[in-house]
Amino acid sequence: MKNGLTIAFACIAVCMLAPFSAFGAGGPKPELRPKATTIAELAERYDSSGCVECHEDAHDEWSESLHAVSILGTPRTAPTIITAIEKGLKLFPYSGVKEDSDITVESLMMCMKCHLPQLDEATDDVAREIVATIRSWQQAYRDSDDEKAEALEETIASLNIGCMVCHNKMAIIHKYADGYPQPDTVYGSQEGDHEDEVYPKMAVAPALGESIFCGQCHGQGPNFELDHPSQCATAYGSYLFAYVAHGGNESCQECHMHKSELGHNMASYRDETMIEMALDVSVEGRSLFWRKDKGEGVLPIGVINVEIYNKTGHGIPDG
Ligand code: HEC
Ligand code: HEC
Ligand code: HEC
Ligand code: HEC
Ligand code: HEC
Repeated sequence: MKNGLTIAFACIAVCMLAPFSAFGAGGPKPELRPKATTIAELAERYDSSGCVECHEDAHDEWSESLHAVSILGTPRTAPTIITAIEKGLKLFPYSGVKEDSDITVESLMMCMKCHLPQLDEATDDVAREIVATIRSWQQAYRDSDDEKAEALEETIASLNIGCMVCHNKMAIIHKYADGYPQPDTVYGSQEGDHEDEVYPKMAVAPALGESIFCGQCHGQGPNFELDHPSQCATAYGSYLFAYVAHGGNESCQECHMHKSELGHNMASYRDETMIEMALDVSVEGRSLFWRKDKGEGVLPIGVINVEIYNKTGHGIPDG
């Protein structure tokens, strides 16, 4: 009991100090940059191609991931955004959206909060340009105009969860304690000079290697901070309340980046390695014969016991 209490007190002390013990990550809240007024401008601001020459592995892995096509998806996401507009926004009496021309950044945030968080750095024109581009892409498909469809698909995919979304915009979680991301800095596990021209500094993001970092977009349930809460991914919720609560102690990064050896690809069942890591399945079968009434013969019966054990850190499937 005495030991238990000592451990409990030690935990409380560490938990309270943890956020304050990591220094020098961010800085004061920077001035807001002028809003991007076109898709091209917003894509340019978060372009990942400048990182490839020095971080080839990270870049190649990332470009295989769904983060690299975060509003196009598999490509199921872009059409579903249109469905959310047609069957949601336009039918809700108080959304303010009756036509595509009424769409704003705020109204798209019920999806973009996680699929494209940097949309908050763009004007409402960009929100409308995104919707118009997805519609033209769908039309080009219907017209079997492959060339046009491909070009538009590229435009949609140019907006994504790129390097600087994770290594700058979303990198610091506890901003009162750790500071705000600075516009000239890449955030990782080191500090000092960074060879890149656009981002000449490196600094530490204390929680980048923790599950809470991924939890920012991987969902706990309804997004209550929105005027109209949406719900899509909930993996972080089930990670906290089912996996960790039952003694699970690995992080998202440990399973998805390290054990899987997938690094920045961070794949799901879409990659073979992850399927192997996902489930223990045991199947046992036996046959029986059941004698029927009045000499009508026997009825063959099969008994199959299937046990499936989820070894991931959350409920599956998700999203
Ligand atoms: C001219 C080469 C160069 C370019 C371009 C470059 N980097 Fe780096 N970067 C480096 C070097 C060198 C390091 C230090 C590597 C080390 O010591 O492990 C580094 C370190 C980093 C780190 C910290 C790694 C850690 O261990 O925590 C991050 C994050 C990072 N770069 C992201 C980026 C991003 C994002 C871009 C594109 C916007 C980029 N870099 C462009 C050379 C470059
Ligand atoms: C809380 C963050 C969050 C919000 C808000 C959110 N999503 Fe998602 N969504 C995700 C994540 C993370 C995934 C992928 C991981 C998964 O499967 O859980 C995903 C997956 C999807 C998928 C499947 C992906 C594919 O390529 O097949 C679709 C479609 C989708 N979202 C559409 C939407 C739409 C439309 C909205 C707005 C109405 C929305 N999401 C709102 C985080 C979110
Ligand atoms: C979805 C978020 C996310 C995106 C997008 C992302 N990173 Fe990372 N990156 C991380 C995390 C998390 C780590 C730390 C992993 C760990 O805990 O070891 C990391 C680590 C790194 C490191 C340090 C060492 C290493 O290679 O693991 C470098 C360098 C890096 N990233 C560069 C990049 C570059 C370049 C891009 C774009 C091509 C990129 N990252 C895109 C989340 C991201
Ligand atoms: C800025 C928001 C954001 C962050 C941060 C983020 N993700 Fe994602 N992630 C998404 C979205 C959005 C998708 C789905 C894109 C789509 O298909 O529409 C996704 C997709 C995925 C998928 C593929 C899901 C599938 O259905 O195949 C995995 C796995 C994943 N993320 C793991 C991670 C891990 C691990 C981290 C932390 C290191 C992380 N993500 C950080 C937003 C994010
Ligand atoms: C113990 C290892 C482990 C941990 C911890 C873990 N995952 Fe997973 N995750 C997996 C495996 C294995 C799969 C493949 C199964 C699948 O895709 O259904 C997976 C699948 C996923 C998927 C795709 C879900 C789907 O629809 O199939 C997402 C998204 C995801 N993980 C995100 C996360 C995030 C975010 C965290 C941290 C909050 C996390 N994972 C923690 C092992 C883990």
